Amino acid sequence: MAKKLIAGNWKMNGSLAANEALVRALIAGMVDDANVTVAVCVPAPYLGQLQMLRAGTALELGGQDVSAHEQGAFTGEVSAAMLKEFGARYAIVGHSERRQYHGETDTLVADKARAALAHGITPIVCIGETLAEREAGKTEEVVKRQLAAVIHTNGHCISEIVVAYEPIWAIGTGKTATPEQAQDVHAVLRAQLRAATPHPERIAILYGGSMSAAHAASLLSQPDIDGGLIGGASLKAPDFLQIAAAARAQQA
Ligand code: 13P
Repeated sequence: MAKKLIAGNWKMNGSLAANEALVRALIAGMVDDANVTVAVCVPAPYLGQLQMLRAGTALELGGQDVSAHEQGAFTGEVSAAMLKEFGARYAIVGHSERRQYHGETDTLVADKARAALAHGITPIVCIGETLAEREAGKTEEVVKRQLAAVIHTNGHCISEIVVAYEPIWAIGTGKTATPEQAQDVHAVLRAQLRAATPHPERIAILYGGSMSAAHAASLLSQPDIDGGLIGGASLKAPDFLQIAAAARAQQA
């Protein structure tokens, strides 16, 4: 079984003062153990601040996006090498907000995952269906297509990725998928990964979408849910710590 991962996606939130208060509270409340990894994925301008705040602690750092390119004339982009310099271990790629508002395609997402892997950054590859797709019975087809693109481009490196299943209808809506709905999709993804790599057990499959302290335990108790990618609740230290504690309890 993959080590549980609880990752916060701050999205476009934060300020120097707010980040410091949040991270200090997280560090004060965190339990450093071998069973759960806790990470925060922050806006790029705050990577340096986080690098300092987390120094010497178990809190891991991630970016929210990464360029598919190495370097050069790509205004506004952040490269995997840059993330690495700030001590980032993860980069979210293909978040539905990037797919929706920035036109990111399955192919681009796969290329971003490859760029991250080339620099030793673990891509957290987000996939998930819209409400219309779910209602049309297309959930499985959509998530398999999204994951297949990443598998196709990354070959044997696929065992080094993290997958995040984020049903779009559950993101920021307060409408969490039921543990059964999430588990069903995670099982499909697990089977797809099993066919693609001899090391499927290394790949954590996270759930994301209105995951709160109240819902975390029932989701994390599912056999194929290895952690969470948390938006809103990751901005409140007590909530985020409670989700990490729920993950820890599952491992005990
Ligand atoms: P919420 O937890 O705010 O629904 O966001 C989920 C998400 O998009 C994490 O990447």
